[in-house]
Amino acid sequence: MAGDFGCYNLADLRERARRRLPHGIWEYLERGVEDERGMAANRAAFDHIRFRPRVLRGVQSIDPGTSLFGRQTPLPLAIAPTGAAGLLWYQGDLALARAAAKADVPFTISSASTMDLEEIATSGARLWFQLYFWENRALSMTVVERAWQLGCEALLVTLDLPVPPNREYIQRNGFGTPFKLNRRNTAAVLRRPRWLAGVMGRYALTGGIPSQANLPRHLRTKVTKGAPPGALFKQDDLDWDGVAQLRDSWPGMLVLKGILRADDAERALALGIDGVVVSNHGGRALDGSIASIEALPAISSAVGDRMTVLLDSGIRRGSDIIKAVALGADAVLVGRAPLYGLAGGGEAGVSRAIDILRTETVRTMAMLGARNIGEVSPEILG
Ligand SMILES: Cc1cc2nc3c(=O)[nH]c(=O)nc-3n(C[C@H](O)[C@H](O)[C@H](O)COP(=O)(O)O)c2cc1C
Repeated sequence: MAGDFGCYNLADLRERARRRLPHGIWEYLERGVEDERGMAANRAAFDHIRFRPRVLRGVQSIDPGTSLFGRQTPLPLAIAPTGAAGLLWYQGDLALARAAAKADVPFTISSASTMDLEEIATSGARLWFQLYFWENRALSMTVVERAWQLGCEALLVTLDLPVPPNREYIQRNGFGTPFKLNRRNTAAVLRRPRWLAGVMGRYALTGGIPSQANLPRHLRTKVTKGAPPGALFKQDDLDWDGVAQLRDSWPGMLVLKGILRADDAERALALGIDGVVVSNHGGRALDGSIASIEALPAISSAVGDRMTVLLDSGIRRGSDIIKAVALGADAVLVGRAPLYGLAGGGEAGVSRAIDILRTETVRTMAMLGARNIGEVSPEILG
């Protein structure tokens, strides 16, 4: 079939991405932290969950649609915030957002995106905005204000990186920031001429190397330069009072991302927070964290009927989406899955990734005898 890239599951798209990206950029996309136990735990936990299908349920019509923050969506899925997507594909953030718009699923703009919020908004996607606080808090609030003006319906504050994560591989592969050419990374880039021409070459022709685009113009620096004072992410001083202040100033949906404990979710609820993302950041924050799918049941039974519960970390199949919904998630976020598509085929590749997940979700529901999302309940699990 045209447009399928010869990729029939996310593992195929992942392999295509790996072959097309320079080694250090591939590692940025794919890897976790330290010994990558968190990543392994995410997958092991999903694989451990078994289904107990119902038969003879007349499954010729399956509807995986659901409601998120009071709005209908055709699939219990949104695109997670992922920084620096512009290094995987020319104007990668826009390609992701356009594919999300076509699929009618929400797209989360990352604080670390390399395109202006305004440009991303031209996609017409249903938008959420993810916040990492910059050292200069006032700066963060101006970006948040812009996100609101652009119609971002939800603000997701990421809490699982109070300090920078330990990514030892960056020191080996030479692809850190500020990015400086050295023997290792030059060789890696030269081995991927298609990426060099199609991504970096196009930036060179159209105005240069990507930068932290959400900052005011005078604070933006290329990925080849260090951040100016105040423009580094810093949230080691963030606490519940900080979240309460944000609640007072953000009129839209406020969601805490990186929650793994029911007591934290309850505290968020008490502050008037609208949702949580049960997440270990795809194994990219604290190695050895509990898998998010393991943390989900306790959180969902504590707050699930009173706030929106999203889950991410390790979703690679439609059946994973159904497992998460059965355990109490309203929807999942996907991080690497659309990025595999992006790196391998731009917007069409992202659409392919979403299509694969949609088809697998519908098939899994039919196999389980679940005709709509309301019928995806704990009883379908083994
Ligand atoms: C390349 C990459 C960049 C990411 N950048 C961000 C980010 O800027 N902000 C954020 O909150 N999470 C970020 N994440 C984490 C994702 O939002 C999400 O929590 C995670 O990818 C989910 O796990 P999965 O990749 O297994 O789907 C990033 C993840 C990846 C893979």
